[in-house]
Amino acid sequence: TVYPNQKEAVAKVAQRIAGVIRNKQQNNQNAVLGLATGVTPIGVYNELIRLHKEEGLSFQNVITFNLDEYYPMQPGAAQSYVRFMNEQLFDHIDINRNNIHIPDGTLSLDAIPAFCLDYEKKITAAGGLDLQILGIGRTGHIGFNEPGSAPNSGTRLVTLDDLTRSDAARDFGGKENVPTKAITMGIGTIFKAREIILMAWSKKKAPIIKKAVEGEISGEVPATYLQLSDHVEFVLDEDAASLL
Ligand code: GLP
Repeated sequence: TVYPNQKEAVAKVAQRIAGVIRNKQQNNQNAVLGLATGVTPIGVYNELIRLHKEEGLSFQNVITFNLDEYYPMQPGAAQSYVRFMNEQLFDHIDINRNNIHIPDGTLSLDAIPAFCLDYEKKITAAGGLDLQILGIGRTGHIGFNEPGSAPNSGTRLVTLDDLTRSDAARDFGGKENVPTKAITMGIGTIFKAREIILMAWSKKKAPIIKKAVEGEISGEVPATYLQLSDHVEFVLDEDAASLL
């Protein structure tokens, strides 16, 4: 779906999320959301905060699982996705802190496989993801599933692509400070979500959106795997859709 501008697109995505939450509330069930970081979803989080403050949208029945975290990463560090999520969303809504899940960047290397299996189990135990929101990296990554990721991959430790580390250099004060690894939900984990929304804004994302939507399905551009899903929607502004 292409919207004339980011503002309208953001409002629609926030309404979709609010719809899932309210629908579940009416049935006394939890809403299980897969959340993303990066610049792309910030407007959606702002709108959700507004809906909470001005229209009484409650998040008390919401369970969240974030896509990814750099490794290693301390939760209080400026670049941590834990900190990002607190600042951009969680500190401003009434979510129960026990319902928040973000991959742990502080683990020892040998503890990561068990953590990742447990992350998958927790998603399943929560009832599975009702809605997963995604951004897209210039390598075509979703979460941190870089080129070479398998379509059935689960949550795991991955090595970041050189281009991804260049894109993150500004946040870290130089590429040499960007971690070389991350923990990410897999393509398979994302695929299990009952609904997937990938968002992209601006001309900068237009070339990778063209590849993701129209390109050959291949592990070289992991977002192309989304072409295989019948429950995914790309929500774009006109600039991001300009090469389609
Ligand atoms: C990071 C995140 C991705 C995100 C991507 C794009 O690499 N791990 O989940 O989609 O950046 O970021 P942005 O939205 O800032 O363009």
